[in-house]
Amino acid sequence: MNAQELPRAYLCRRFTPTVEAAMQDRYDLRKNEDDSILPPDRIIANARGAQVLFVSATETISAPVLQALSPTLKSVATLSVGYDHIDVAVARAMGIKILHTPDVLSDACAEIAMMLMLNACRRGYEADRMVRSNQWPGWSPTQLLGRGLTGRRLVIFGMGRIGREIAARARPFGLEIHYHNRSRLAPEQERGAIYHATLDEAVKVADILMIAAPGSPGIKGAINASRIALLPANAVVVNISRGDLIVDDALIAALVSNQIFAAGLDVFANEPLIDPRYRTLDNVFLTPHIGSATHETRDAMGWLLINGLDDLMHGRRPPNLLA
Ligand code: DGY
Repeated sequence: MNAQELPRAYLCRRFTPTVEAAMQDRYDLRKNEDDSILPPDRIIANARGAQVLFVSATETISAPVLQALSPTLKSVATLSVGYDHIDVAVARAMGIKILHTPDVLSDACAEIAMMLMLNACRRGYEADRMVRSNQWPGWSPTQLLGRGLTGRRLVIFGMGRIGREIAARARPFGLEIHYHNRSRLAPEQERGAIYHATLDEAVKVADILMIAAPGSPGIKGAINASRIALLPANAVVVNISRGDLIVDDALIAALVSNQIFAAGLDVFANEPLIDPRYRTLDNVFLTPHIGSATHETRDAMGWLLINGLDDLMHGRRPPNLLA
């Protein structure tokens, strides 16, 4: 088949070279060459005529975008497990299929969760800075004392696939695992973790609160001032989910007043902007939304989308089909 006979696809962000090569074999592929974050009007202009739209969590695929592209658009494939940036209900109503990338990124995201937790508890940012800036006076019995993990309670808010991988990695650290989830897990998935039916009850026992719940309008702002007030003294808050689950004013106030010990944040409400007050705080460990950022994971995410689209083309239901 020459390029003109292949289905037209538009790629909003640059994917890994292996994945892009596989896309090129299957599609008449146009790309956003410079990998910039495209606003909706540019997506509409660039992707006109495409049957497949490849996006990531940085693109907002709202009803107007879907409507403008609907004459040709058959599928939107997002390189993310989260899909809060896509109007799935409208897509479903229009018969546009949505594919995402669950499972293949759970290990990588759980690794980042551990990195944030360890760095927040053991003051990784301050320690690194002390060494790099040549300010280390030498070992001291009272230098950079942190919060140990052994015997503490880790509360996982959102015990889906990623939450369970975090629990599996946290158990060997001697953490007692608690969780809050929409519904209680079966015993073989729970593996001894203690279920709390309400978020308030879970927060009250959280020496470490790990936010791993999928972003959705229902839980926006869930970690607010009144919930932060329920945390035990010297708690640590980690967020690998979506920034808007936390009310920044409330978390920053708790960090400034040392009501909580520290936070580890990989996600922010208005990425790539972050509340500038976070940058001034020593007790926050910050990473730029790198939960799934490993070579093998990004390849696997891309392949999951390609294989899912192949399934659709051959009349099969892909495992990663949302709508
Ligand atoms: C996801 O997969 O949802 C990550 O947050 C990257 O967008």
